[in-house]
Amino acid sequence: MHNLGVLISGRGSNMMAVHDHIQSGALGAEISVVISNKPQAQGLTFAVENGISTAVFEPKDYASNNAYEQDIVTCLKSFKVDLVVLAGYMKLVGDPMLQAYEGRMVNIHPSLLPSFKGLNAQKQALDYGVKVAGCTAHYVIRDVDAGPIILQAAVPVLDDDTEASLSARILEKEHEIFSMAIQEALDQLN
Ligand code: GRF
Repeated sequence: MHNLGVLISGRGSNMMAVHDHIQSGALGAEISVVISNKPQAQGLTFAVENGISTAVFEPKDYASNNAYEQDIVTCLKSFKVDLVVLAGYMKLVGDPMLQAYEGRMVNIHPSLLPSFKGLNAQKQALDYGVKVAGCTAHYVIRDVDAGPIILQAAVPVLDDDTEASLSARILEKEHEIFSMAIQEALDQLN
């Protein structure tokens, strides 16, 4: 059984969807630890309630980003994590995590990459006026939202969409494809 280390910063709905897919048997893995850079992340509550180990590392407690990430890597290794899952982890990934897990780290992004990288991707899509939006599960490399694509899903953009309505439509697809992409990444491991 492969071990997942899930990194979050907030709500954690993608982490919950991964958990649900594991529970239903659709995804053959275990969430070994949920790590957050924010102590108030709502997703931590779900993890604790579901008996998943959690850890919080706050960048402000460290002299450098490298020192912060080194502690995360040490934690991931202590849980024998095979694949790192960035599920709404709102921080750029630096050297320690890349050196330890490049090729074994995946992210979910709410746009059809390579369009609309970075923050507020759904608003970027609305502002641009695209008629099709979606989400992308991809491997993490140094360049933001630029790693090899594993899976994508598209949704229509409706004339009366708001950022909230479009984000909700995309999020449903995120919850579907992320677990499938994680399974594909795990199948590549060995
Ligand atoms: C999602 O839209 C994800 O694509 C983006 O951040 C959001 C996280 O949502 N990277 P949640 O914390 O998984 O609910």
